[in-house]
Amino acid sequence: MTLRIHLWSGPRNVSTALMYSFAQRADTRIVDEPLYAHFLRVSGAAHPGRDEVLRAQDDDGARVVREQLLAPCDRPVQFVKQMAHHLVDLDRSFLRDCVNVILTRDPRDMLPSLVNQVPEPTLRDTAYMMQTQLLRELRARNQPVVVLDSRELLVDPRGVLAQLCARLGLAFDEAMLSWESGPRPEDGVWAPHWYHNVHRSTGFERYEPKSAPFPARLEALYAECKPHYEELAASALRVRTRLPDPRNEHIWVHVGGKLVPRAEAKVSVFDSSVQGGDACWEGLRVYDGRVFQLDLHLERLEHSARALAFESCPSRDTIRRALFETLEKNGMRDQAHVRLTLTRGEKLTSGMTPRNNVFGPCLIVLAEWKAPVYGTRMLELVTSSWRRNPPMCVDSKIHHNNLINNILAKIEADHAGVDDAVMLDIEGYVSETNATNLFLVRKGEVQTPFADHCLPGITRGTVLELCAANAIPCRERRLSLTEFYAADEVFTTGTMGELAPVRAIDRRRIGDGTVGPMTRRLQSIFTDLTRRTGTPLPF
Ligand SMILES: Cc1ncc(COP(=O)(O)O)c(C=O)c1O
Repeated sequence: MTLRIHLWSGPRNVSTALMYSFAQRADTRIVDEPLYAHFLRVSGAAHPGRDEVLRAQDDDGARVVREQLLAPCDRPVQFVKQMAHHLVDLDRSFLRDCVNVILTRDPRDMLPSLVNQVPEPTLRDTAYMMQTQLLRELRARNQPVVVLDSRELLVDPRGVLAQLCARLGLAFDEAMLSWESGPRPEDGVWAPHWYHNVHRSTGFERYEPKSAPFPARLEALYAECKPHYEELAASALRVRTRLPDPRNEHIWVHVGGKLVPRAEAKVSVFDSSVQGGDACWEGLRVYDGRVFQLDLHLERLEHSARALAFESCPSRDTIRRALFETLEKNGMRDQAHVRLTLTRGEKLTSGMTPRNNVFGPCLIVLAEWKAPVYGTRMLELVTSSWRRNPPMCVDSKIHHNNLINNILAKIEADHAGVDDAVMLDIEGYVSETNATNLFLVRKGEVQTPFADHCLPGITRGTVLELCAANAIPCRERRLSLTEFYAADEVFTTGTMGELAPVRAIDRRRIGDGTVGPMTRRLQSIFTDLTRRTGTPLPF
């Protein structure tokens, strides 16, 4: 028995690429829009190449269904690409004999493309309404239906096609991911009007959000399409390798003086960060329209760049401007984390010497939607066997990108199934974790290691100041691991995760294993500070 797959697509939904993908399967026979002439006759629509289509195809839809779509097929699979709006004035009972797949696309992406072929499109030309009707009709009959969103397909073609094949009862075939460029024998006669882009392709093109502003004249039509699209998208197969926050798929990044989409955000293989981790960085957080402790971060970046003997460093104003431009482009005013990186720049040739760095440093502003990483949970830590660098090796006061020391410790934490690793200094005293500074509370006093073998964290400095300002006893000391084990409370500090309480170190419970009163108090004072202070965003 032939498996008959009918793909009910809207126009400009990458349906032809999907048809080419199925055409790569040895078991599949392709039929391209067999009801196009029927639709043109019934609707009278003035499409490009109308007369050619009417000449080339049978315009009697019922006969097409009988003689082509339900006729015996010479392959185990028949893949019929259809436009959903072609399903007019037809007995739809044939739908029971096929597996129906609906392919849709965000009208924000689709409409600006459609107007190139159909200058004054209406809701009917977009097919969204026919697609939602079809979805409801098939569901009402308890007939299986699969919905695809072209964006998901383009973001992860292998993942989404594999899911689609599984739903269709077919084995996924790697061949479906690429094809030769140019026209194909299966193409309908309308190909010269509609298939230019797909003829240039050799596979699914990577999804790119539209950078051009959405045309104002299409807003009214967009409003009509949107509820239909949302209904369809709610049922669509989803990318499984989704980012924790899908908004980060479409971010813009400042690299070397230019704002580029995420997919193009790259540095050269000659960049010093690739050649030797020769770069410095800062992590910043944006709260409610303000950048927290911006000046301190810019100062520390400059300090690191000078310590690394960078020949030049962009001015604080230049960095501020790049930061604000990036946040504005991404529409980020809250719940954003920014990774500012300054590399020594591109080298003339690979090698260590900064004499090869003739192009000057490269600034990267990577802003992502990211809430504090630990949420509200308590952390578990293990002690790493890797020691934090003493100043005689690499001074931890430089916030540099040579993070291997910390990454090796983090791997130990991952292997132990805990959040982070405590790193000791060369003499066995506690320095910090692989990613944060450490504090303990003992008999009402807050204590943290001297910043000799750890990064002098800005959150750490803020907590010390908050303690002083709120008459909370506090001091920096040399602290050993046993003092942490015996502490009443332990918490970590850092821009990524703010103040995070620690439940256990090396499986030893800290205090009573719950968030202690001092940690809670400092968390609340800190949150209050993030709400009240910071450099306001200029947009
Ligand atoms: C090793 C290490 N410790 C501590 C911190 C916390 O520093 P801050 O509070 O400035 O974010 C960081 C952050 O980058 C870090 O990488």
